[in-house]
Amino acid sequence: MGQIRWSTASGPSAVVVPSLIAPILTAVGPKILDRNHGAPGNHLGQARPQGRGRSRGVLDCEWVLTSMGGPARPRRVWVSAEEGSPLSSCPIDREGVIPVSLETASGLKCRLCGKIYPKEALNFCTEDFGPLEVTYDYQQVARTLSRAAIQARPRSMWRYRELLPIDGEPTVGEHVGGTPLVRADRLARALGVSELYIKNDAVNYPTLSFKDRVVAVALSKAVELGFQTVGCASTGNLANSVAALAAAAGLDAYVLLPEGLEQGKVLGATIYGAKVIAIEGHYDQVNRLCSQIAFRFGWGFVNVNLRPFYAEGSKSVGFEIAEGLGWRAPDHVVAPMAGGSLIGKIHKALKEFELLGLLDGPVATRMHGAQATGCNPIAAMVKTGAAKVKPIRNPQTIAKSLAIGDPADGYFASKLIQETGGWSEDVDDAAILEAMQLLAETEGIWTETAGGVTLAVTQKLIDQGRIDRDESIVICITGNGLKTQEPLLQRVSRPVVIKPRLEDFEALLETLAPALLAGSSA
Ligand SMILES: Cc1ncc(COP(=O)(O)O)c(C=O)c1O
Ligand SMILES: [Zn+2]
Repeated sequence: MGQIRWSTASGPSAVVVPSLIAPILTAVGPKILDRNHGAPGNHLGQARPQGRGRSRGVLDCEWVLTSMGGPARPRRVWVSAEEGSPLSSCPIDREGVIPVSLETASGLKCRLCGKIYPKEALNFCTEDFGPLEVTYDYQQVARTLSRAAIQARPRSMWRYRELLPIDGEPTVGEHVGGTPLVRADRLARALGVSELYIKNDAVNYPTLSFKDRVVAVALSKAVELGFQTVGCASTGNLANSVAALAAAAGLDAYVLLPEGLEQGKVLGATIYGAKVIAIEGHYDQVNRLCSQIAFRFGWGFVNVNLRPFYAEGSKSVGFEIAEGLGWRAPDHVVAPMAGGSLIGKIHKALKEFELLGLLDGPVATRMHGAQATGCNPIAAMVKTGAAKVKPIRNPQTIAKSLAIGDPADGYFASKLIQETGGWSEDVDDAAILEAMQLLAETEGIWTETAGGVTLAVTQKLIDQGRIDRDESIVICITGNGLKTQEPLLQRVSRPVVIKPRLEDFEALLETLAPALLAGSSA
């Protein structure tokens, strides 16, 4: 007879509890202690003894694990084979049939201890609370994914679908991705470098940020797993994406934000009919509450219990960069960091393409992370060589979308930056605004404050000699300036108002461009 083993017998006091998990412990109190001792019948709504597998005579097991926070309707169940072994990854459907699978995502794996879990709405390891990541059967992927196959598909993030964790057809966000990779020669001249590109997700569909990618995956997965209600903890852009894509998919959305975000971000969530809730507190408090809500109501929170799937969506930025460069990896990528997920997924994407033989040459890309000085937990970790993230308790920056003081993937982002020979820097608000303007004036791209952070940090890394001037550089612009207008209002000049008369225009030109006027009258 099998039994699900939840954790070591030493109980939760013996394990490190990361911030993401802490609210769950608080919310359920002593129940989790019982669960850790494997007592049947004590559960959080995710682990409970069921005779279903056995009574059908299908599987030899005593206990059945249902997924964390799933919907109440009948759904797939997962079984453990024997005492202490990893859970079997053998799903049975409602009729008790084991489906034939052509799925490429093989499971979830703990990034700390390597324990394998089934593809369910679960984001942490029950042994050590490590984050879970999607794993793939790359042999299966290689059967259908080639350069030719990719190029024959529509220009969206789904052209790399074998490397995204959806089983079957994606149902949400069909048109997401496929954004321009712009050769930025005018900006390159301004920075004194020779080969510079902008990956421009400021024009991603539908809500003008890279978050549409992660949400397309998370909500496709949510539909697949049977969730009707979805949600997120957001610094702004994620709220817009969840609200819009949930509306288009007919899902109910609860979007939680820190109070005081930019109007464009708030309006850009409410317009879609989502329930938008502003929390008196900063992002980490919002995130904590969302963990509790996801557990309490069994909803699909894209960056809580659906996080392993959600995060994989960011890989499509990396795939598009490599394809856009003619199937090669750049020498440098500079990416903004909030939770610290995007930067790691871009690198994972490049390594997956390399593994599948899709690239000319190896991946030797140095990954650089950008943060604002007012919220720089990951940059500080890299710069000081610290072993752990030191959370920022009270973020203060105009780059509100990056204001995550206790980043879920901060440790891994910092490790990756060091392993790839990259670096991380932070910049103050004045530098952010200057960089936003520089990008707009040289390349005609209006980015939000996060993009200002990324460009200003790139400039800093070039000046420090950490990025060679003659190597290829990709700057990830992840959001649109229309959404963060407030800090620009004081900075950019207002239009001059004149009467509709040629002589008034000529009088104006005398101050604006006197040389031009002198030339035309000569
Ligand atoms: C515009 C923008 N860029 C970058 C990020 C950072 O992404 P990550 O949390 O994966 O580090 C965010 C996160 O909210 C964002 O809104
Ligand atoms: Zn683990």
